[in-house]
Amino acid sequence: DAPLRVAVLGCGVVGSQVVRLLRDQAGDLAARVGRPIELAGVAVRRLDAPRDVDLPADLLTTDALGLVSRDDVDLVVEVIGGIEPARTLILTALEHGASVVSANKALLAEDGPTLFEAAEKAGRDLYYEAAVAGAIPILRPLRESLAGDRVTRVIGIVNGTTNFVLDKMDSSGAGFAEALEEAQDLGYAEADPTADVEGFDAAAKAAILASLAFHSRVTASDVHREGITEVTAADIASAREMGCVVKLLAICELRPGSGDGDGDDEDAAVAVRVHPAMIPRTHPLASVREAYNAVFVESEAAGQLMFYGPGAGGPPTASAVLGDLVGVARNRVTGTRGAGESAYADRAVLPMGEA
Ligand code: HSE
Repeated sequence: DAPLRVAVLGCGVVGSQVVRLLRDQAGDLAARVGRPIELAGVAVRRLDAPRDVDLPADLLTTDALGLVSRDDVDLVVEVIGGIEPARTLILTALEHGASVVSANKALLAEDGPTLFEAAEKAGRDLYYEAAVAGAIPILRPLRESLAGDRVTRVIGIVNGTTNFVLDKMDSSGAGFAEALEEAQDLGYAEADPTADVEGFDAAAKAAILASLAFHSRVTASDVHREGITEVTAADIASAREMGCVVKLLAICELRPGSGDGDGDDEDAAVAVRVHPAMIPRTHPLASVREAYNAVFVESEAAGQLMFYGPGAGGPPTASAVLGDLVGVARNRVTGTRGAGESAYADRAVLPMGEA
């Protein structure tokens, strides 16, 4: 069978691992998809930059827009991050008939609806499991496995960098700057770590989680946000004296409506916030160490669920990207689409500060 051709946008910490896995797992991927997946090209900022994977020069290009406009590209993986040019590239890819996999939490949290509408119009998939909590499968369970239940609360440790920093400060007495540098060296932090330590990254992920959990449309600006830059060694020491740890939590809640008895609770409201919190050492979230992430989900019928695993770093994030890639590729082979984002309730989102 003719191969499906994939363009990868970005070859940094995550992109290089995506390319490596595409190559190393080629046989298994072909068996799972039903057709081989072949690399059509990799868009990079600089052709001569050092990278973690060897690539034939003829696959590299600095013309990302040209790459996603090509007729022979069936699948596009966007792992460059940020709002532009990522948004234009994804929209162009969909217009040209490609299915898209993205790890771009900032873009999805800021302008998801524009992208979902474009995917709907193109009749193509846009999957983004890697955008939240790295390797942990959490978006698909919220969108699909729990679709028949009512999720009432999601509490997550969804930023690996801040969890690493807080954990180091707690366990080894390391200073903030030293712990952050280590997280950067390990490839966990964003290009600009302000996004991590000020809570913007967690707020973007919280917006995506809340949108899917509550079938709503929550954007990053709806999220009440406070980072960890004000957390001192003294705060951590006094938390310890009280038998607690400090964690940066993303808390998404469904506030019940008036309950008119028809079962749809249509005037329920959504509240989303990110802030450092003291939690007892006996709480399961307290055991989330280093750059690991965890997401607690509470729903009416299922009760409490916990999803746990590596939330940042190249190979774990690439694992989630590849999972999505297999999903969208299978849909191409069978001529179907995955669960879209078009059905949502117009729920009130409580403004910042009212969370
Ligand atoms: N900077 C992010 C983190 C990477 O530390 O969790 C994963 O999104």
